[in-house]
Amino acid sequence: MLLRQLFDGDTWTYTYLVADPETGDALLIDPVRDQVDRDLALIAQLGLKLRYALDTHVHADHVTGAGLLRERTGCKVVCGARGPESADLRLADGARLKLGRVDVEVIATPGHTDDSVSFRVGDHLFTGDALLVRGNGRTDFQNGNAEHLYDAITQRLFTLPDATTVWPGHDYKGFTASTIGEEKRFNPRLAGKTKPEFVTIMASLGLAPPKYLHQAVPANREVGLGIGPEANTGRFEEIDGATADKVLSKLRVIDVRERHEVTGELGAIAGSENVPMADVAKAAASWDRNQPLLIVCRSGRRSRQVCEQLVGQGFTAVTNLRGGMLDYRERGRPA
Ligand code: FE2
Repeated sequence: MLLRQLFDGDTWTYTYLVADPETGDALLIDPVRDQVDRDLALIAQLGLKLRYALDTHVHADHVTGAGLLRERTGCKVVCGARGPESADLRLADGARLKLGRVDVEVIATPGHTDDSVSFRVGDHLFTGDALLVRGNGRTDFQNGNAEHLYDAITQRLFTLPDATTVWPGHDYKGFTASTIGEEKRFNPRLAGKTKPEFVTIMASLGLAPPKYLHQAVPANREVGLGIGPEANTGRFEEIDGATADKVLSKLRVIDVRERHEVTGELGAIAGSENVPMADVAKAAASWDRNQPLLIVCRSGRRSRQVCEQLVGQGFTAVTNLRGGMLDYRERGRPA
């Protein structure tokens, strides 16, 4: 098995790449949206094919890259049974996911959030924010429950073999991994602590809310593609496929899908220019910021992010094609 630990320095988040080197099948655990280009470049360099993007829970501290990875690669988004409905596979406790010859087991570990799961691959355990190195995820928002977390860690994770490697979802002190045996002995909140003692510890932490809480949670309920209340409201126009034809002649149409999608079965709007999402920021540097733009993708989600980005770059007349090419073609529009 191939295993790589990746890091996002802005949110102190670990992402894990797991692959079967024989078949080339790969998955990412807890990808970060801002790091999607890095992760895809690594996957391409290693000659792997991304099959799944797994989220251990609806994150509050960063926006997941899962939905964007799905749009860019066609991979399936996987989460626990109580995870967002926008995921492709919501796996119950004990369910297994096959990745080539690699076998991933889902272990429900609620408490940090009610949808939290850990993923076990042989003697490797990816714990998300349930169990951290010498710590654990906070339990003071998003349906957090300290009693549930104590039970999940002590009854589900601490019953695994001591040699099991613990790969956490974050670390704030520079640690990268631990083992079940080490955490049983040395985790200051859990070693020798009763459930009431743990609950008291968790209630007295007095932590500040995560800096991206109000942006990340709504976005992550849509696997990273939702727009939070502060993210963009009213900053650009949206039109649907039915009205698009009437205004097409007045707009410069930018299709931000990947090149292989534009030549695929959905086709492309006549006269549109293909600038894949990852290239827009650079390309747009030379565009007229006052020229009206219509941004198009497959489902209207990537294009919405591009609209947001263009507004941030100073563009004044940006419109999103809501529902993307899927909606446009559904309404019988030519391509
Ligand atoms: Fe979290």
